[in-house]
Amino acid sequence: MQRYLDFNATCPPLRVALEAANKAASEAPGNPSSLHWAGRAARRFVDDARDKIAAYIGTEPGSVVFTSGGTESNNIAIHSVLSVSRPGSIITSAIEHPAVLKPLERFSTASAKEQGWSVTQLRPDTSGVIDADKMIAAISADTRLVCLMLANNESGAVQPVQQVADYCREHGIPMLVDAVQALGKGRLDFKALGIDFMSLSGHKIGGPKGVGVLLVRRGVKLLELSPGGGQERGRRSGTENVPGIAGFAAALGEIDFNAFAPMRDLFEAQMAERLPSASIIGRDAERTPNTSLVILPGMDGETLLMQLDLAGFAVASGSACSSGKRDPSHVLMAMGMSEQMARSSIRVSFGPGNSEEDAMALVDALVTVYQRLRKMAGMAA
Ligand SMILES: Cc1ncc(COP(=O)(O)O)c(C=O)c1O
Repeated sequence: MQRYLDFNATCPPLRVALEAANKAASEAPGNPSSLHWAGRAARRFVDDARDKIAAYIGTEPGSVVFTSGGTESNNIAIHSVLSVSRPGSIITSAIEHPAVLKPLERFSTASAKEQGWSVTQLRPDTSGVIDADKMIAAISADTRLVCLMLANNESGAVQPVQQVADYCREHGIPMLVDAVQALGKGRLDFKALGIDFMSLSGHKIGGPKGVGVLLVRRGVKLLELSPGGGQERGRRSGTENVPGIAGFAAALGEIDFNAFAPMRDLFEAQMAERLPSASIIGRDAERTPNTSLVILPGMDGETLLMQLDLAGFAVASGSACSSGKRDPSHVLMAMGMSEQMARSSIRVSFGPGNSEEDAMALVDALVTVYQRLRKMAGMAA
């Protein structure tokens, strides 16, 4: 039996999203920039989706810029601000997704430093939460951008973005919030947050892959990073992904991720009982309701993942694969864990179709795999 428990990686597309995407593709095959009837029909799908997303996130449709996903949204916001500002400091957290950390790397090279750039990455506490006061204390008059994610993709830990956002607004400092893992998991209100940019991605909530949104505060200018036909009011060129956009809007609000908290809690309670050496990251912190990040000391996360895969379970290990080499989880390393510990995690994320039975079955499988691996390593079971 196959069980999918990796919804933070992606949520398989919902039927409503596929139907909406199919409808848009078949009923409106024109280019949304074309003035004729076929183009206007496609434009209607894009506009309807924009209206729905704007209403859902608490902003006006003019703030919604369609992109190819969370990665592009983060990159557009970061480069749009930093390529036109004087060198200065960038304040972020060490637990951001690579879609934020990588684009910031070019501002921490030796030559960038010489020019006057600096990148400060704040570390979280042992629960995986950034201290808002420390982040605010790191901001200064020469800060050009602040980036803080709303919920971490590995641990699910919710970050204190409102407090930091309030400070940034008061001091006129641009702030980007990567809300990719928060969408659908709690109320999001872009205007109330008062930030300049927020990134969202369709495939985390059951929409099609390869479509996202960058929310841009009214009055904030976006630099067109890939100049072209001037779509999205000159803010992001390229013919809009009409079916993807329609599918994203259709998926919005369809999943109540809170419904998965009892499964996650059952999984964690059973883990604590049956594998007491396991530790659960951020259990006392506010977390997204479907996510559990577990450390199994002495185990290799990737080996666990592969063993669980053989047993039919799809889960994630915290470590990331870059150019064939496996890196330990940068999130756990930032929390002060050793490299070995940071390699011994698995992430379980629940979603539609999961049941408490899946949670129990996963614990059974983990206990079996754990004992087998310990035996193979010559350790007492
Ligand atoms: C927090 C976060 N930001 C950004 C992304 C990238 O989104 P996308 O896959 O749509 O490019 C992800 C995807 O895993 C994510 O979890």
